[in-house]
Amino acid sequence: MDLGQIVADRPARFTDKVAVVTGGAGGLGQAISAAFLAEGASVQILDANADAVASAVQQLNNSVDGAVGRVIGSVVDVREPDQVAAALQQAADQLGRLDVLVAAAGGSLGTPRDLNDIDEDALDLVIDVNLKGTFYCAQAAIPHMRAAGGGAVVTFSSIGGRSTSPVTGVPYAAAKAGILGLTRRLAREVGPDGIRVNAIAPGLFLTGRLTGMFDAMSEPDRRSVIEGIPLGRMPDLRECVDPVLFLASDEASYITGVVLDVNGGRFMSG
Ligand SMILES: NC(=O)c1ccc[n+]([C@@H]2O[C@H](COP(=O)([O-])OP(=O)(O)OC[C@H]3O[C@@H](n4cnc5c(N)ncnc54)[C@H](O)[C@@H]3O)[C@@H](O)[C@H]2O)c1
Repeated sequence: MDLGQIVADRPARFTDKVAVVTGGAGGLGQAISAAFLAEGASVQILDANADAVASAVQQLNNSVDGAVGRVIGSVVDVREPDQVAAALQQAADQLGRLDVLVAAAGGSLGTPRDLNDIDEDALDLVIDVNLKGTFYCAQAAIPHMRAAGGGAVVTFSSIGGRSTSPVTGVPYAAAKAGILGLTRRLAREVGPDGIRVNAIAPGLFLTGRLTGMFDAMSEPDRRSVIEGIPLGRMPDLRECVDPVLFLASDEASYITGVVLDVNGGRFMSG
């Protein structure tokens, strides 16, 4: 991934802060991690894919000035609360504190889209990684944020949890809609501690597998996707990264419990 465009011309909103990015070895997670590093934060990328973690740490060290020593990688399955708690303790110990959690680990994870093809394992995988994983990470992060005097959590919903995406199936829609309830209820509970909790709901961003899927579509199908987007184009990765960092930053200091749709207008909430 070319991170040059992601890290260029960023303000320094996170100097001396520590951000944990789950799914940090993935497409959006790695770009978000690069942006935090470029804005002065130390970053723990937490991801289940060991090879991807190693190469993401290397790429971040190579792509962001001064990143060496400020980025650590942890191989963790977000479905395992003990692993998650140990990793976040490691982030707090090694990097000094914990201010921001971006819970991006998730996706439809290669499971089928159509109802008749979805078995119990596929349903469990999607619900457990997206919804329960977000819960475990937030639950483990909150005590560290309280110790730091406040913080921000950004959860990952999706246009598939806001509307009826034809690309993803019922389990994904349920998990990503569930994340919105989690986000609001958690925001209510930890607001008095100065901890804000907001969700981002991206439309289609062409990361990894999705790039191949989009490229494999026929020209008329690709055109019909783009015609469904009022802004009339596919987004750059930075157009998801910037809203995430906004929600995590002091610029959003009076915003909690919201969902920010980042989809070029493809779904507009009432
Ligand atoms: N790309 C999009 O168009 C889009 C749209 C809407 C929502 N989202 C959401 O954004 C988030 C990131 O998506 P992406 O496109 O970067 O996907 P991605 O597949 O590139 O990255 C996801 C990362 O999560 C990690 N992961 C999967 N299971 C895990 C587990 N059990 N524990 C820890 N890590 C695990 C993977 O190893 C991977 O690195 C996901 O939650 C996805 O649902 C993406």
